[in-house]
Amino acid sequence: MNNITIAPSLLSADFFNLSDELNSLNALYKVQKNLWLHLDIMDGHFVPNLTFGTPVLKKISNKCHMPLDAHFMVSNPKDYINWFKDLNIHNFTFHIEATDDPMALSREIKKIYPSAGISVNPGTNLEFLTPELIKNIDLLLIMTVEPGFGGQGFIDSTLDKVSLALEMKKKFNPNLTIQVDGGINGETSKKVIEAGADNLVSGSYFFKTDSSMSQKYSSLIH
Ligand code: DX5
Ligand code: ZN
Repeated sequence: MNNITIAPSLLSADFFNLSDELNSLNALYKVQKNLWLHLDIMDGHFVPNLTFGTPVLKKISNKCHMPLDAHFMVSNPKDYINWFKDLNIHNFTFHIEATDDPMALSREIKKIYPSAGISVNPGTNLEFLTPELIKNIDLLLIMTVEPGFGGQGFIDSTLDKVSLALEMKKKFNPNLTIQVDGGINGETSKKVIEAGADNLVSGSYFFKTDSSMSQKYSSLIH
């Protein structure tokens, strides 16, 4: 058995039936403990889209049993650290493209949240990831589509970055989680797991295709 975590992305859930969606996820979590809920927070500036804010997230946080994984696609991630502190978020991920000082930011995050993550757009390489920085974070999110929207096609060229991240993880931080996000389905999941990912975000495949959540979970972990 591998140790893959699946993080369904709420962005693709049925927003008219969020309560039912969360009930189904909570039921799955009873039998599959490697399950997070991925929350895409967008500011209409870092990416050309808006999603949900604190009133909706508060309700979700109260109802959701699994760890919350917040992916901040925002231009000023520092501002959100305090703003979101009462939402019981487990992992706080910011984009490397949105900061000049990832070390200071990750240290601030770790004062409040159990886990700090850095996300990397498809066009950004991993040169910024010094040994010191990689030791200071818990998660590296490699975007496998351009951030901003669900339902896009997986970008194959990002696989090399996942392999490189795995090499760096082995050398400098064996506890690092390597997460991928975008275009993950029953086929692309196999490729990213082989390359070294151990945490897979899945939006449209998980929420919008036929078959049960439990079957899709199984097809993603292989
Ligand atoms: C895109 C978001 C993703 C998105 C993934 O900017 O970060 O989390 O919801 O959706 P799919 O799995 O449909 O590509
Ligand atoms: Zn995301």
